[in-house]
Amino acid sequence: MVEIKDRCIWITGASSGIGKALAQHLCSQGNFVIVSGRDHHSLQQMVLAASGRMCALPMDLSVPDDELGPYAGRLQELTDYLDMVICCAGVCEYEDKLTFDPAMYRRVFEVNFLGVIKSLHLAMPLLKKSTREPRVVAVGSLSSAVPFPRAEAYGASKAALEYFMKSLQTDSVKIPLRATLVRPGFVATAMTSKNDFSMPFLMSPDEAAKIIVEGISQGRAQIDFPRRLSWPLRFFGVFFGLWRRWVAPKVTRITPDVWVKTL
Ligand SMILES: NC(=O)c1ccc[n+]([C@@H]2O[C@H](COP(=O)([O-])OP(=O)(O)OC[C@H]3O[C@@H](n4cnc5c(N)ncnc54)[C@H](OP(=O)(O)O)[C@@H]3O)[C@@H](O)[C@H]2O)c1
Repeated sequence: MVEIKDRCIWITGASSGIGKALAQHLCSQGNFVIVSGRDHHSLQQMVLAASGRMCALPMDLSVPDDELGPYAGRLQELTDYLDMVICCAGVCEYEDKLTFDPAMYRRVFEVNFLGVIKSLHLAMPLLKKSTREPRVVAVGSLSSAVPFPRAEAYGASKAALEYFMKSLQTDSVKIPLRATLVRPGFVATAMTSKNDFSMPFLMSPDEAAKIIVEGISQGRAQIDFPRRLSWPLRFFGVFFGLWRRWVAPKVTRITPDVWVKTL
């Protein structure tokens, strides 16, 4: 176990929730942290509280590729190198009526999947200048372990991210780059505050951040938590037929009524 200290770390999605807790935790451990998100005010408040060990890079990850240039310039003004990038930015929208609105799918994939690709595109030249083993961390979700109801868009974006990270792990076996996929269960943040269903083993962002930092310190390729939730979900991921037969009828909201009404 290697303590994460004296590193330069860039965190996206750091203006609230899990990303914010990660930024505060890593900063208090003696790292220099660059925090990103769209909410300037929240980022500024964090920077003020961090007495010089944090700086802000406000950015919208849903901008078109040809608008990324200024972000690259600003990032390079803030640091000459990066030891770690934590891609935590994410959005959640549900598929309530099986209308398959392409705009909604595009919004979700733009941040949850392409947002990670854009961040890595910006970070890679600086990660290559790290004098340690540079690390890429991406926050996925346990929704890619087994398909959740209404998560056709959100879960698919996280499943795409999971595949991407595993592919990156395959391609980095001969180079110093390390990649970690994080799959949280339910964490009490702005994202989950809109949920109107029971969220088993809900935890605080601080608890989640501690588990993630510990997993990164241990050099883990995948961090699933909490175990009480991840183990049963992984079981059903392997035996998906059982999930479809036993669990799906209890959790889906798509009844024959909804089906007829949305015709
Ligand atoms: N909470 C959970 O139970 C849970 C479970 C599994 C996985 N996750 C994942 O954990 C990550 C963090 O989520 P959270 O729960 O902490 O939610 P959150 O509090 O809503 O945080 C989401 C973060 O993403 C940023 N973001 C959203 N859209 C963005 C955009 N277009 N450009 C740049 N940044 C953007 C937000 O910043 P601005 O609004 O300032 O842009 C915010 O900092 C997400 O990837 C989420 O999918 C969460």
